[in-house]
Amino acid sequence: MPPKILIIDDDSSLRRVLEYNLQQEGYEVFTAAEGEAGLKLFAEKAPALVITDLKMPGMGGFQLLAAIKERSPATVVIVLTAFGAIDTAVEAMKLGAFDYLTKPFNREELKLTVRKGLQLQGLSEENRLLKEELSGRAEFKSIVGTSRAMEGVFSVVRKVADTEATVLITGESGTGKELVARAIHSGSSRRGAPFIAVNCAAIPRDLLESELFGHVKGAFTGAIRDKEGKFQLAEGGTIFLDEVGDLPVELQPKLLRVLQERVVEQIGGTTGQKIDVRVVAATNADLEKWIAEGKFREDLYYRLCVIPIQLPPLRERPEDIALLVRYFCAKFGAEGVTFSRQALDRLQGYAWPGNVRELENTVERLLIMREGEQVGVEELPEKISAAAASPEGGVLRLPAGGYSLEQLEMEAVLEALTRCDWNQTQAARFLRIPRHTLIYRMEKYNIMQPGRK
Ligand SMILES: Nc1ncnc2c1ncn2[C@@H]1O[C@H](COP(=O)(O)OP(=O)(O)OP(=O)(O)O)[C@@H](O)[C@H]1O
Ligand SMILES: [Mg+2]
Repeated sequence: MPPKILIIDDDSSLRRVLEYNLQQEGYEVFTAAEGEAGLKLFAEKAPALVITDLKMPGMGGFQLLAAIKERSPATVVIVLTAFGAIDTAVEAMKLGAFDYLTKPFNREELKLTVRKGLQLQGLSEENRLLKEELSGRAEFKSIVGTSRAMEGVFSVVRKVADTEATVLITGESGTGKELVARAIHSGSSRRGAPFIAVNCAAIPRDLLESELFGHVKGAFTGAIRDKEGKFQLAEGGTIFLDEVGDLPVELQPKLLRVLQERVVEQIGGTTGQKIDVRVVAATNADLEKWIAEGKFREDLYYRLCVIPIQLPPLRERPEDIALLVRYFCAKFGAEGVTFSRQALDRLQGYAWPGNVRELENTVERLLIMREGEQVGVEELPEKISAAAASPEGGVLRLPAGGYSLEQLEMEAVLEALTRCDWNQTQAARFLRIPRHTLIYRMEKYNIMQPGRK
């Protein structure tokens, strides 16, 4: 695509000369006869370079220059001045103009100045993109993990971030759902616009509708003025609907309409408002079960779950723990502190029902309470050291004559289930395996709860 250039001058013959010369050079050229029209064209065409006269009726060149620089600092502006008015040109350059041309100018001078200006524009544009990319990466860096499961999450986030697709993030409490939502926002071209998080479970039911969609004055008692909802506040950016499963059934059709038509209806409003907002939602509820129970609309679920991202619980990725511990030490300003091998072993053996958040809090507490530069196993909270405590040499003594691994596995599954009162979720957690793996093992060994068919 050829670079776009906008020319603003009230002198029509000069406009035509400029336009002709620059078109000859292969640029795409737009012209306007005065400031307001020029600014409008500027907004429409987003030119890389603007050439403007300084003295024009109506909005003068200085005002125009300021307006352009405010909207788009990277745009290169070249000003035209009458011969002998160098001081006004200098003034313009102080305000951010790139260069000036004195009338009458020759063609070569015009071409050269424009070329230099576009070169600079290209550089600053590249710079901006680079900076944006880096800031996006920085956000990404705050999600720690090298396990296969987390690599899988990163790969989806990378692919989906800079699209408009609605994302549904699921995972237990403390697995990093909000972190991922933020990474998606900052990995998208919406990163300069707001990221608005709404916790649907934390806002009282009767306020939630107005919080999300806004209301007009007089819509209900107490609505003394118009109020924008979170959707309007997120314009151009991303809204993060946390605990979306807790959205009351009566509000679900409204959200569905937003997702389908990108239209929000304020309470008491007569018409819908068009909005441009990307939706990312999260839940730790089993929405498919809630659909079956009539608590969540199925059509809404499919609209939300265009791209599902499931965050694995921490107990399924103990290999991330050492790295997370290092990361949190640095986060709390204790880069120099280490954890003993034994202490790390125990942390890796614990089931972390509160996931990464629980680990983060634990590390923070340990760092405050620590005696020296190394945290030892004796400093760990009882529940962590006890959970993984094992006799010297492991939990087992195998018979001298050998033993079948399958038999061992079957016994382990059986023991876990009986200990957990046949609660499969708890037994799976106890064995540090996903529930579906447990169920598979139960079928494999034909293990059934006594008294159940
Ligand atoms: N992979 C990770 N790397 C670094 N920090 C993490 C990671 N996962 C979670 N955290 C940290 O753990 C805490 C909890 O994360 P977050 O709030 O994103 O979890 P959540 O899934 O939204 O939890 P909840 O369901 O309870 O709202 C945050 O302080 C977050 O920074
Ligand atoms: Mg959260």
